[in-house]
Amino acid sequence: MQEHLKDKVAIITGAAGGIGSATAQRFVEEGAKVVLADFDLEGAQKVATELGDNAVAVQVDVSDKDSVVAMVQTAAEKFGTVHILINNAGIARDAFCKKMSVEQWDQVVNVNMKGTFLCCQAVIPIFAENKGGKIVNTASIGALGNMGQTNYSASKAGIIGMTKTLALELARDGVNVNCVSPGATDTQLFDGVPEEIKDGIKSKIPFRRFAQPIDIANLHAFLVSDGAAYITGQTIFCDGGISVGI
Ligand code: NAI
Repeated sequence: MQEHLKDKVAIITGAAGGIGSATAQRFVEEGAKVVLADFDLEGAQKVATELGDNAVAVQVDVSDKDSVVAMVQTAAEKFGTVHILINNAGIARDAFCKKMSVEQWDQVVNVNMKGTFLCCQAVIPIFAENKGGKIVNTASIGALGNMGQTNYSASKAGIIGMTKTLALELARDGVNVNCVSPGATDTQLFDGVPEEIKDGIKSKIPFRRFAQPIDIANLHAFLVSDGAAYITGQTIFCDGGISVGI
């Protein structure tokens, strides 16, 4: 594999999880130095150890400003600067609206939407100084509406709007801000879901399969590459075609 990301420094949040760890691996293969930031430090350390000297694990709660600022400081101290931010950490706490607790709402909005905001805000001074940078946020097909996910849908639709506004604000500093919007992806999110339910979901996907984490990692790799230099403010659905058609 060509080293398109040689010596680039990337922070990936939620990097202990399925999509984040696949992206971390892909980036290291392309020559990047990667900070695997996750609430689950042990999980992030396990992935970092497998990836070698160009990967380091950091504990972060993306919904907490002090924790996010410390994450960015640690990354800059360890590798000198930051070029890429992948806002991938996310949670779901599903319930129908009439039964959703305020805690469920707050948890999901705080991690997914506020967390994305805080991480973007924390790298802005570094990107401004570098006169460039790449941010990739994470929405979901759930942003289009999904039963039992008022909190998740709202948070992910919010991230799409945030991406557009940040793209406008940061263009003058040469920063690309884009968003990936995965469809159902084969990660621990689906652990414990019965096969017949998974088959039901697959039957509605034109490609008749879930995304693999590498499908999303490949999109991350493209969006942070020079090949995507003129793309900003966009949300790209990587969902096997489920979001198109009537
Ligand atoms: P995952 O559950 O495997 O990984 C998510 C990671 O985020 C976990 O390692 C978790 O410890 C971390 N995390 C949770 N709260 C955190 C916090 N407060 N601070 C820092 N880290 C925290 O999930 P997966 O599937 O890899 O999802 C990654 C992203 O993709 C999420 O934003 C998710 O909403 C999104 N997505 C996933 C889909 C799927 O079908 N798996 C579909 C559409 C979007």
